[in-house]
Amino acid sequence: MSQFFNPPDGAVQLTPKQANIYLWGWQKEARFRDAVCGRRFGKTFLAKAEMRRAARLAAKWNVSVEDEIWYAAPTFKQAKRVFWKRLKQAIPASWRAGKPNETECSITLKSGHVIRVVGLDNYDDLRGSGLFFLIIDEWADCKWAAWEEVLRPMLSTCKYIVNGEQRVGGHVLRIGTPKGFNHCYDTFMDGQPGHEPDCRSFSYTSLQGGNIPESEIIVAKRKMDPKTFSQEYEASFESYQGVIYYCFNRILNSSSEVVKDNDTLHIGMDFNVTKMSAVVYVRRGETMHAVDEFVNLFDTPAMIEAIKEKFPDHEVGIYPDASGENRKSSNASETDLALLRKAGFRVYVNSRNPAVKDRINSMNGMLCNTLSERRLFVNAIKCPHFTKCQERQIYDDHGQPDKKSGFDHMNDAGTYPIAYLFPINEQIKSIDIPMFGF
Ligand SMILES: Nc1ncnc2c1ncn2[C@@H]1O[C@H](COP(=O)(O)OP(=O)(O)O)[C@@H](O)[C@H]1O
Ligand SMILES: [Mg+2]
Repeated sequence: MSQFFNPPDGAVQLTPKQANIYLWGWQKEARFRDAVCGRRFGKTFLAKAEMRRAARLAAKWNVSVEDEIWYAAPTFKQAKRVFWKRLKQAIPASWRAGKPNETECSITLKSGHVIRVVGLDNYDDLRGSGLFFLIIDEWADCKWAAWEEVLRPMLSTCKYIVNGEQRVGGHVLRIGTPKGFNHCYDTFMDGQPGHEPDCRSFSYTSLQGGNIPESEIIVAKRKMDPKTFSQEYEASFESYQGVIYYCFNRILNSSSEVVKDNDTLHIGMDFNVTKMSAVVYVRRGETMHAVDEFVNLFDTPAMIEAIKEKFPDHEVGIYPDASGENRKSSNASETDLALLRKAGFRVYVNSRNPAVKDRINSMNGMLCNTLSERRLFVNAIKCPHFTKCQERQIYDDHGQPDKKSGFDHMNDAGTYPIAYLFPINEQIKSIDIPMFGF
């Protein structure tokens, strides 16, 4: 058993990879830890050792009893089912002030500190105490707002002294398997080398956890589709089913192209007051490259000014939302499209917008067709928002593109030129890009 690691209080033995995550705990450079690991790696098991250590340190470091220690999961029901029994195993009876509270799922320690199992389904009800330590299990399935609005502020006030040094701020460990490119991906990236100074992230496969035999992996491989297997057992961030632009892949569709002096710019534009969006494409042979973006501009005049300032000497074609033919920006007497024409841009628009479905199909077809040809590329460094929106916008419960998460405007902007220039339903001849200046 020499490959196992025994935490100093001796309750459980950790595998080497669990130990690596554990040993980063309570270091200043790892105030926010994220462990994204495959199924049955031993994440929830590790949480036992982490909770036990936090209970010990809260007493040792004289943490105020107002600051609690929590294990959180997406719902209270799930949190209780998965962890309550395990928590009672992890905290010895000799440390407890009395019997565990079975209704609330809490344990009060002799030191006065409270350890609790909570669900993030009704996160508004959780406000109140401060937090010394927090574990969030199945982090990819939790609501981001629960973290941002409630939990994060609760961690900010906790004070304690470590080896004579005053420290402020509770620590967190978020664990789980990935679920596409959602908030779990963001916090994982924050913890990668060169990103945030107080975040540290870890990624291990199920097999690296050492709790499941290779034979089980082989069976899973035979039964599962490749994407699901990679996500669940290899902890890989895969585009989530239900994502609209499922053909987009930030590696395979990546571009290092930038705007060159003589380029004609093809700019897709979506109109929304204070949220005007635009994506700038250039053409290279038979391929299109998104090479720049404009995000959250106030109105059409502001957008015109921004484009002229950034690209004063380029031929510009705008591919807008067709509704701009009637729509007026705030305080403007002319329609949005009239303003664009007056600014000297060529405006390419059909009398009506194409059906949303056709626009999505054109885009996916350009991203990757059935012959595995990719004809549309995105420079993710120049277009970080467009890249994120391509990865994240999903269909809502009614099968329509989701507009609630804020990923819709950039995608609308970025797909108008593609639907215009590469329509899915028309004859081949119409895929020619208009020639400018002729
Ligand atoms: N260090 C360990 N020592 C003994 N058993 C472990 C250890 N880590 C995990 N296990 C066992 O492996 C199985 C999977 O662990 P679990 O924590 O539920 O995985 P996950 O939360 O990553 O899906 C459980 O039966 C658990 O008890
Ligand atoms: Mg688990």
